[in-house]
Amino acid sequence: MQLFLDTTDINILKDLAATGLVDGVTTNPTLIAKSGRPMLQVIAEICDAVEGPVSAEVAAMDTVGMLDEGRKLAAIAPNVVVKVPLTRDGLIATREFAHEGIATNVTLCFSASQALLAAKAGATYISPFIGRLDDHGADGMDLITEIRTIYDNYDYDTEILAASIRSSAHVKEAAMAGADCATIPPSVFQELFKHPLTEKGLELFMADWAKTGQSIL
Ligand code: E4P
Repeated sequence: MQLFLDTTDINILKDLAATGLVDGVTTNPTLIAKSGRPMLQVIAEICDAVEGPVSAEVAAMDTVGMLDEGRKLAAIAPNVVVKVPLTRDGLIATREFAHEGIATNVTLCFSASQALLAAKAGATYISPFIGRLDDHGADGMDLITEIRTIYDNYDYDTEILAASIRSSAHVKEAAMAGADCATIPPSVFQELFKHPLTEKGLELFMADWAKTGQSIL
Protein backbone atom coordinates (compact mmCIF):
# COMPACT_ATOMS: atom_id res chain seq x y z
CA MET A 1 0.00 0.00 0.00
CA GLN A 2 1.29 3.48 -0.83
CA LEU A 3 1.18 5.98 2.00
CA PHE A 4 0.81 9.65 1.12
CA LEU A 5 1.00 12.62 3.48
CA ASP A 6 -1.95 15.00 3.45
CA THR A 7 -0.10 18.23 4.18
CA THR A 8 1.37 21.50 2.93
CA ASP A 9 3.79 21.76 5.87
CA ILE A 10 7.21 21.38 4.26
CA ASN A 11 9.10 20.87 7.53
CA ILE A 12 6.79 18.11 8.73
CA LEU A 13 6.91 16.59 5.27
CA LYS A 14 10.73 16.55 5.17
CA ASP A 15 10.88 15.04 8.65
CA LEU A 16 8.51 12.18 7.78
CA ALA A 17 9.93 11.70 4.27
CA ALA A 18 13.31 11.00 5.91
CA THR A 19 11.82 7.68 7.15
CA GLY A 20 11.57 6.53 3.53
CA LEU A 21 7.94 5.58 4.22
CA VAL A 22 6.23 8.50 2.45
CA ASP A 23 5.28 7.61 -1.13
CA GLY A 24 3.64 10.91 -2.10
CA VAL A 25 1.72 13.98 -0.95
CA THR A 26 -1.77 15.35 -1.36
CA THR A 27 -2.88 18.95 -0.89
CA ASN A 28 -6.19 20.76 -1.19
CA PRO A 29 -7.32 24.41 -1.13
CA THR A 30 -7.91 24.25 2.64
CA LEU A 31 -4.35 23.03 3.27
CA ILE A 32 -2.95 25.70 0.92
CA ALA A 33 -4.93 28.36 2.82
CA LYS A 34 -3.56 26.96 6.10
CA SER A 35 0.02 27.28 4.80
CA GLY A 36 -0.54 31.02 4.20
CA ARG A 37 1.83 30.80 1.23
CA PRO A 38 1.53 31.04 -2.59
CA MET A 39 0.27 27.73 -3.95
CA LEU A 40 2.70 27.40 -6.87
CA GLN A 41 5.66 27.91 -4.55
CA VAL A 42 4.36 25.38 -2.00
CA ILE A 43 3.74 22.75 -4.66
CA ALA A 44 7.20 23.28 -6.19
CA GLU A 45 8.86 22.83 -2.77
CA ILE A 46 6.87 19.68 -2.03
CA CYS A 47 7.78 18.26 -5.44
CA ASP A 48 11.46 18.87 -4.63
CA ALA A 49 11.12 17.13 -1.28
CA VAL A 50 9.45 13.92 -2.49
CA GLU A 51 9.92 11.83 -5.61
CA GLY A 52 6.40 10.41 -5.60
CA PRO A 53 3.11 11.90 -6.81
CA VAL A 54 2.08 15.31 -5.44
CA SER A 55 -1.58 16.22 -5.86
CA ALA A 56 -2.31 19.90 -6.56
CA GLU A 57 -5.97 20.89 -6.82
CA VAL A 58 -7.52 23.16 -9.45
CA ALA A 59 -9.78 25.99 -8.25
CA ALA A 60 -11.81 26.52 -11.43
CA MET A 61 -15.34 25.09 -11.57
CA ASP A 62 -15.62 24.84 -15.36
CA THR A 63 -13.83 22.43 -17.71
CA VAL A 64 -11.90 25.08 -19.65
CA GLY A 65 -10.67 26.74 -16.47
CA MET A 66 -9.71 23.37 -14.97
CA LEU A 67 -7.74 22.48 -18.09
CA ASP A 68 -5.87 25.81 -18.07
CA GLU A 69 -5.08 25.57 -14.36
CA GLY A 70 -4.25 21.87 -14.51
CA ARG A 71 -1.76 22.33 -17.35
CA LYS A 72 -0.07 25.13 -15.40
CA LEU A 73 0.13 22.97 -12.26
CA ALA A 74 1.41 19.97 -14.23
CA ALA A 75 4.22 22.11 -15.66
CA ILE A 76 5.62 22.75 -12.15
CA ALA A 77 7.24 19.30 -11.92
CA PRO A 78 6.89 15.87 -13.52
CA ASN A 79 5.46 14.38 -10.29
CA VAL A 80 2.49 16.77 -10.09
CA VAL A 81 -0.91 15.05 -10.18
CA VAL A 82 -3.75 17.41 -11.05
CA LYS A 83 -6.55 17.14 -8.53
CA VAL A 84 -9.98 17.66 -10.05
CA PRO A 85 -13.38 17.71 -8.30
CA LEU A 86 -15.85 14.92 -9.02
CA THR A 87 -18.30 16.98 -11.04
CA ARG A 88 -19.48 16.68 -14.62
CA ASP A 89 -17.03 19.41 -15.69
CA GLY A 90 -14.30 17.78 -13.60
CA LEU A 91 -14.73 14.42 -15.33
CA ILE A 92 -14.69 15.99 -18.79
CA ALA A 93 -11.40 17.68 -17.80
CA THR A 94 -10.12 14.36 -16.40
CA ARG A 95 -10.76 12.67 -19.74
CA GLU A 96 -8.85 15.39 -21.58
CA PHE A 97 -5.96 15.26 -19.09
CA ALA A 98 -5.78 11.49 -19.65
CA HIS A 99 -5.46 12.10 -23.42
CA GLU A 100 -2.68 14.62 -22.75
CA GLY A 101 -0.83 12.19 -20.45
CA ILE A 102 -1.41 14.34 -17.34
CA ALA A 103 -2.06 12.33 -14.16
CA THR A 104 -5.22 13.14 -12.22
CA ASN A 105 -6.64 12.63 -8.75
CA VAL A 106 -10.44 12.91 -8.79
CA THR A 107 -11.43 14.25 -5.41
CA LEU A 108 -14.55 14.59 -3.25
CA CYS A 109 -15.85 11.13 -4.15
CA PHE A 110 -18.73 10.01 -1.92
CA SER A 111 -20.37 7.20 -3.93
CA ALA A 112 -19.38 4.10 -5.89
CA SER A 113 -21.24 5.32 -8.97
CA GLN A 114 -19.16 8.52 -8.93
CA ALA A 115 -16.03 6.35 -8.70
CA LEU A 116 -17.21 4.28 -11.67
CA LEU A 117 -17.53 7.44 -13.79
CA ALA A 118 -14.09 8.65 -12.69
CA ALA A 119 -12.51 5.37 -13.80
CA LYS A 120 -14.32 5.55 -17.13
CA ALA A 121 -12.99 9.12 -17.55
CA GLY A 122 -9.46 7.77 -17.13
CA ALA A 123 -8.63 9.08 -13.63
CA THR A 124 -5.24 8.02 -12.30
CA TYR A 125 -6.51 8.15 -8.69
CA ILE A 126 -9.96 8.31 -7.13
CA SER A 127 -10.21 9.86 -3.66
CA PRO A 128 -13.14 8.53 -1.59
CA PHE A 129 -13.51 10.70 1.56
CA ILE A 130 -13.81 8.20 4.42
CA GLY A 131 -13.89 10.55 7.43
CA ARG A 132 -16.41 12.97 5.96
CA LEU A 133 -18.74 10.05 5.14
CA ASP A 134 -18.40 8.77 8.72
CA ASP A 135 -19.21 12.30 9.97
CA HIS A 136 -22.30 12.20 7.76
CA GLY A 137 -23.58 9.03 9.48
CA ALA A 138 -22.46 6.56 6.78
CA ASP A 139 -19.66 3.98 6.94
CA GLY A 140 -16.88 5.43 4.79
CA MET A 141 -15.04 2.14 4.62
CA ASP A 142 -17.99 0.46 2.85
CA LEU A 143 -17.32 2.83 -0.05
CA ILE A 144 -13.74 1.58 -0.40
CA THR A 145 -15.00 -2.01 -0.51
CA GLU A 146 -17.61 -1.17 -3.15
CA ILE A 147 -15.15 0.69 -5.36
CA ARG A 148 -12.60 -2.15 -5.04
CA THR A 149 -15.23 -4.64 -6.26
CA ILE A 150 -16.27 -2.48 -9.21
CA TYR A 151 -12.71 -1.68 -10.31
CA ASP A 152 -11.71 -5.36 -10.05
CA ASN A 153 -14.83 -6.47 -11.95
CA TYR A 154 -13.84 -4.35 -14.95
CA ASP A 155 -10.06 -4.24 -14.57
CA TYR A 156 -9.96 -0.46 -14.20
CA ASP A 157 -6.43 0.85 -13.57
CA THR A 158 -7.61 3.83 -11.49
CA GLU A 159 -6.00 3.60 -8.06
CA ILE A 160 -8.14 3.91 -4.95
CA LEU A 161 -6.67 6.64 -2.73
CA ALA A 162 -8.42 6.55 0.65
CA ALA A 163 -8.75 10.19 1.77
CA SER A 164 -10.17 12.11 4.72
CA ILE A 165 -8.41 9.67 7.03
CA ARG A 166 -8.88 10.44 10.71
CA SER A 167 -7.18 7.57 12.60
CA SER A 168 -4.69 4.74 12.37
CA ALA A 169 -7.70 2.38 12.41
CA HIS A 170 -8.86 4.06 9.18
CA VAL A 171 -5.48 3.29 7.58
CA LYS A 172 -5.65 -0.37 8.64
CA GLU A 173 -9.26 -0.77 7.48
CA ALA A 174 -8.54 0.92 4.14
CA ALA A 175 -5.62 -1.46 3.62
CA MET A 176 -7.81 -4.46 4.46
CA ALA A 177 -10.54 -3.22 2.11
CA GLY A 178 -8.01 -3.11 -0.75
CA ALA A 179 -7.29 0.60 -1.15
CA ASP A 180 -4.15 1.11 -3.24
CA CYS A 181 -3.08 4.20 -1.28
CA ALA A 182 -4.12 6.25 1.72
CA THR A 183 -3.43 9.92 2.26
CA ILE A 184 -2.79 10.54 5.91
CA PRO A 185 -2.55 13.69 8.06
CA PRO A 186 0.91 13.94 9.71
CA SER A 187 -0.49 13.45 13.25
CA VAL A 188 -2.12 10.15 12.22
CA PHE A 189 1.04 9.10 10.33
CA GLN A 190 3.06 9.53 13.57
CA GLU A 191 0.51 7.32 15.37
CA LEU A 192 1.12 4.46 12.92
CA PHE A 193 4.54 3.84 14.49
CA LYS A 194 3.15 3.47 17.99
CA HIS A 195 1.62 0.82 20.25
CA PRO A 196 1.58 1.08 24.07
CA LEU A 197 2.88 -2.49 24.37
CA THR A 198 5.86 -1.65 22.15
CA GLU A 199 6.76 1.25 24.44
CA LYS A 200 6.21 -0.81 27.61
CA GLY A 201 8.14 -3.78 26.24
CA LEU A 202 11.06 -1.61 25.19
CA GLU A 203 11.20 0.03 28.60
CA LEU A 204 11.43 -3.42 30.25
CA PHE A 205 14.04 -4.71 27.82
CA MET A 206 16.18 -1.61 28.32
CA ALA A 207 15.94 -1.86 32.11
CA ASP A 208 17.03 -5.53 31.99
CA TRP A 209 19.78 -4.76 29.50
CA ALA A 210 21.17 -2.06 31.82
CA LYS A 211 21.38 -4.69 34.60
CA THR A 212 23.72 -6.83 32.47
CA GLY A 213 26.30 -4.02 32.39
CA GLN A 214 27.14 -5.10 28.81
CA SER A 215 27.68 -3.05 25.67
CA ILE A 216 27.30 -4.41 22.14
CA LEU A 217 29.93 -2.13 20.61
C1 E4P B 1 -6.98 14.71 0.37
O1 E4P B 1 -6.79 14.51 -0.80
C2 E4P B 1 -8.23 15.28 0.89
O2 E4P B 1 -8.41 16.57 0.41
C3 E4P B 1 -8.20 15.25 2.39
O3 E4P B 1 -7.83 13.94 2.80
C4 E4P B 1 -9.51 15.68 3.02
O4 E4P B 1 -9.43 15.47 4.41
P1 E4P B 1 -10.47 16.14 5.44
O5 E4P B 1 -11.81 15.53 5.20
O6 E4P B 1 -9.92 15.77 6.79
O7 E4P B 1 -10.45 17.60 5.17
